[in-house]
Amino acid sequence: MIIVLNFGSQFAHLIARRVRELGRYSQIVPFGMSASEIKKLNPRGIILSGGPGSVYEKDAQLPDPEIFKLGIPVLGICWGQQVMGHLLGGKVEPGKVREYGKEIIQVVDASGIFEGLDEKEQVWFSHGDAVTKLPPGFHVTASTPNCKNAAMADEKRKFYCIQFHTEVGHTLKGMHILENFVNKICRSEKDWSMKDLKPALIAEMRAATANGKGVLMAVSGGVDSMVTAVIMHKANPDNLYLVYVDNGLMRNGETEEINKLFQKMGFKHFEIIDAKADFLDKLKGVNDPEEKRRIIGHTFIEVFEKKALSLKKKSDIQFLAQGTIYPDRIESAQPSKAASKIKSHHNVTLPEKMHLKIIEPLKELYKDEVRELGEELGIPKERVWRHPFPGPGLAIRILGEVTEDRLRVLREADEIFITELKKEGQYDKIWQAFAALLPVKAVGVMGDSRTYENIISLRAVTSKDAMTADWAKIPYDTLERISTKIINNVRGANRVLYDISQKPPATIEYE
Ligand code: XMP
Repeated sequence: MIIVLNFGSQFAHLIARRVRELGRYSQIVPFGMSASEIKKLNPRGIILSGGPGSVYEKDAQLPDPEIFKLGIPVLGICWGQQVMGHLLGGKVEPGKVREYGKEIIQVVDASGIFEGLDEKEQVWFSHGDAVTKLPPGFHVTASTPNCKNAAMADEKRKFYCIQFHTEVGHTLKGMHILENFVNKICRSEKDWSMKDLKPALIAEMRAATANGKGVLMAVSGGVDSMVTAVIMHKANPDNLYLVYVDNGLMRNGETEEINKLFQKMGFKHFEIIDAKADFLDKLKGVNDPEEKRRIIGHTFIEVFEKKALSLKKKSDIQFLAQGTIYPDRIESAQPSKAASKIKSHHNVTLPEKMHLKIIEPLKELYKDEVRELGEELGIPKERVWRHPFPGPGLAIRILGEVTEDRLRVLREADEIFITELKKEGQYDKIWQAFAALLPVKAVGVMGDSRTYENIISLRAVTSKDAMTADWAKIPYDTLERISTKIINNVRGANRVLYDISQKPPATIEYE
């Protein structure tokens, strides 16, 4: 096992993920974990992640210095290198030039973690400060014109430091460097695969809910909540209470389909709450995206809480399971030095007043890992590979007011789009595809009459984890067929656009 000390970089989780991709279990722990606690975990290696700030700030995030006496190999990445430079007797100063983006390093010592690297390699930097004096025992292993000590090592103690980021794609040999560390330096054995994760997570969840108390969970029909539900069901089949809230913002036929599937999967306690009227009523006249999210979030909590209280009367419920996955957590992060608020979304808004202990078995996983796990758990393939669908449903794909009629227009257009993509073998090549309804109308002509109707925007993106996304290059003739079909069949739509924006700067959803 390799542990990653998290100093607050958005990339800390990416490091852990990359290590897992190399077949080693990796656990992220808070940067301040004491050396004795770390020792108890018995890691084969320690990675210090990047992080914001400067080592000389009063409240700088520094690790327990004793970790450097444990005899465990350490890899310091970016902030991690500065921390090691600072704590092990070197010097860190503000760099003359901030380096941000791609750079070419000159590898001066192609051994250790750099074994197999060429003399010049492309890497990705993001730093202001730099190590200006090496700590005793270290020597330089790579440089750039602006950063003499771009990497340093003390082979005797198995300490390796790099000022750039191995974990991002722009560092072309990043995986190779990490592999050298976990393989050659830490000599860790392969101990991780999805096959191992399944029993490990089930056992972990069984232990977490071993007091025999009930576990409540809201399911949406999406892969994250479904995988969570199956895990919780396998861990604790009798005490799992599943609730599906029909908020009236679902796509055509979705609720019926989910009902059938959940019955078939044999969940003991599964209930559908019809709250359509409640949601739509509260959304009347609301145009602002964040206001919509707030209303939907609150209404959901109200409905769910009411159900929770009534269930609680009958059975002793103490836990609330949620299908939160890793990207949900970064994008919902409160504004801080490390992560700025992007959208107030996802599944992490349930209030403390519910007095339930939150359980999130998938919180370290990316979507593709969740899907792999879903297949391991025997969930039908077409469910596992279904495109993600956001919690606030069609409301965030209807720009402007959500009304029954606008929902109908969007549902019909979306159904045509998705059905055609499936028919043409495009669906599985795409991360997410959907129709959105714009808040403006346009003039058209149908037969001999002038029309003034809605504009449908089609969005289809390719992505690995929704953090970045590219628009899908759907063939023109497919787009043409879809457009014609929508305009001919959906009453109230006279124009179809195809969205060609990337994320960032656009997001995948419209609101
Ligand atoms: P964005 O629009 O932020 O979306 O690029 C990234 C991924 O997250 C999904 N998404 C949501 N999922 N509740 C959810 O459960 C939400 O409020 C929400 N907003 C966006 C989106 O569909 C995409 O897969």
